Amino acid sequence: MSVTWALPFKEKIIPELGKERTVDPEEYRRIHQESLKDIEAFWSNVARELEWFKPWDKVLVADPQPPFYKWFVGGKLNASYLALDRHVKGGRKNKVAIIWEGEPVDQNGNPLEVRKLTYYDLWREVNRLAYVLKNKFGLKKGDTIGIYLPMIPELPIAMLAAARLGVIFTVVFSGFTAQALADRLNDAEAKLVITADGGYRRGRVIRLKDIVDKALEQSPTVKNVIVYRRVGLNDVNMVKGRDYWWHELMSDVPMNTYVEPEPVESEHPLYILYTSGTTGKPKGIVHDTGGYMVLLHATMKWVFDAREDDIHFCTADIGWVTGHSYIVFGPLLEGMTTIMYEGAPDYPNPDRWWAIVERYGATILYTSPTGIRTLMRFGDDWVKKHDLSTIRLMHSVGEPINPEAWRWLWKLAGREKVPFGSTWWMTETGGILISHAPGLALVPLKPGTNGPPLPGVDADVVDDNGNPVQPGQRGYLVIKRPWPGMLLTIWKDPDRYVKTYWSKFPGMFYAGDYAVKDEDGYLWILGRADEVIKVAGHRLGTYELESALIQHPAVAEAAVVGVPDQVKGEVPVAYVVLRQGYQPSEQLKAELNNKVRELVGPIATLSNIFFVTKLPKTRSGKIMRRLVKAVVTGQPLGDVTTLEDEASVEEVKRAYEEFK
Ligand code: PRX
Repeated sequence: MSVTWALPFKEKIIPELGKERTVDPEEYRRIHQESLKDIEAFWSNVARELEWFKPWDKVLVADPQPPFYKWFVGGKLNASYLALDRHVKGGRKNKVAIIWEGEPVDQNGNPLEVRKLTYYDLWREVNRLAYVLKNKFGLKKGDTIGIYLPMIPELPIAMLAAARLGVIFTVVFSGFTAQALADRLNDAEAKLVITADGGYRRGRVIRLKDIVDKALEQSPTVKNVIVYRRVGLNDVNMVKGRDYWWHELMSDVPMNTYVEPEPVESEHPLYILYTSGTTGKPKGIVHDTGGYMVLLHATMKWVFDAREDDIHFCTADIGWVTGHSYIVFGPLLEGMTTIMYEGAPDYPNPDRWWAIVERYGATILYTSPTGIRTLMRFGDDWVKKHDLSTIRLMHSVGEPINPEAWRWLWKLAGREKVPFGSTWWMTETGGILISHAPGLALVPLKPGTNGPPLPGVDADVVDDNGNPVQPGQRGYLVIKRPWPGMLLTIWKDPDRYVKTYWSKFPGMFYAGDYAVKDEDGYLWILGRADEVIKVAGHRLGTYELESALIQHPAVAEAAVVGVPDQVKGEVPVAYVVLRQGYQPSEQLKAELNNKVRELVGPIATLSNIFFVTKLPKTRSGKIMRRLVKAVVTGQPLGDVTTLEDEASVEEVKRAYEEFK
């Protein structure tokens, strides 16, 4: 069924960025097509700008066969060397690498703790921790560790120390629960966990070590825990022989300790990051080292127009891929100053971001539509209070940006003149693939669009048969050729990698998003085409929520769908069929929500739970979430020929109507 789509915005904006780099879409198309003529030559030119311990023999190899791709095969490098040593040796020794601000404030609202680490400071701390990991715990290349830290500098220090040794790390978002942490540690077979006593969020202390203790009851591979004293809690449970304080371990390590960076093969995994899919437990997305570094270098230059004096402020949490790529590795690779903060955008006041921009003179702002919409509700004055004139470039990420949010931020923070794009990518892609590229050649902005694909990226929109659709027709977003930075596989599950991404359209990477291409070749990503929802920019599989619900003894069956929400973009609602002997009640609703929060995390909170006696199903017994979704979003039901019992849809409708 073809769906025609109308451009939601009329304006085309040419921001101030030096005329020489503004091109019309036609010219950009030529640049882009040129880059695709020989992608290996194209990407190797980018790769040459990095420092390799050993150059590669082959740019791209399918091994053992497509879609398993390896980039820059034969090449050796080290991510921690590229992010640190190169700068320490090359004139940026005393340049600030990380500006960090903690959450607690004084009575005037000023942060009580600010740390600025120079490249030399960071290099020293990374070397010292690498020494501890290697000599005290015997970790070596190919081992895996878990990192469960709040947003403090020790988080990038831990990531870089692991990378220095070729130890594969998996960062688990510090808002995740013990169960979610245990699942990830087990799947990754982590040998050690780095955590903290606690962290601050909206004035509360989150006791992280307690959560780790609970997770470790079920995580037998973890032999040791390193605990950083962030909050200073004095009742932390330390298990003798298993748990060690960070400061005690480090106190024996001289400040000038040097640990040789391990030259790893380009395809050596740098990290695993878990993300939600449509079925089963979260998938461990595996990123390589060489390709990932190349994509980050390219996108820092093209998308962020990285310059020596930039102060880069990405508002994400390092627990997600955006933070991995664009708080830690991307900016440090370029020798920039990167900002990270502990806490939340609306605490203690809804001007936390703007105060940070002003305090440190941020020049680049990388943020999310859901964050913008949250702050919009508090009005313009919180923004206007601050001098944001240092900002010269902005982008958003995570979900489609709506017109109101785009215009609001562009006016208030962008002073109606700076480039402001919506960069499309996902955990699997490693870095940005579709975006305006102000650092390369900026085409006129159309608010809300993602812009054209970056050079070297063969993105397209196709129909159900994999054929390109006409401009203005909705289809599926695909990437037709491999790109550096792409996931290597799903950790320990190569079949799922093939099935999830490369089987819907053979030979093409299927992103799972609906998209449209317009007359100018700009792409507009419209949202997920599968059973994944984006809640405040976070990716959740409806299946994960359903699995959590049915673990409650009262639940026989559950269907979860996403419904539009003004601030969060989407929120999950559940339709639940109860087992015999259970009655619907407000208390039961609360219990079910607690179950979901406990098993998946607070992000997964259901905005509503409806009790029904049956769910719409196919004759073969598959729950038809598509129909549930159509009802709650007021869309036409579409094809219902496989529906077993029409009364089920009526019941879903009734439950929703009563609520409205
Ligand atoms: O649906 C797309 C949406 O976020 C999904 C990827 O989520 P995740 O792996 O959590 O990574 C988010 C940050 C990189 C995509 O499949 N998405 C991401 N950026 C955009 C977007 N949708 C529209 N516009 C964007 N700029």
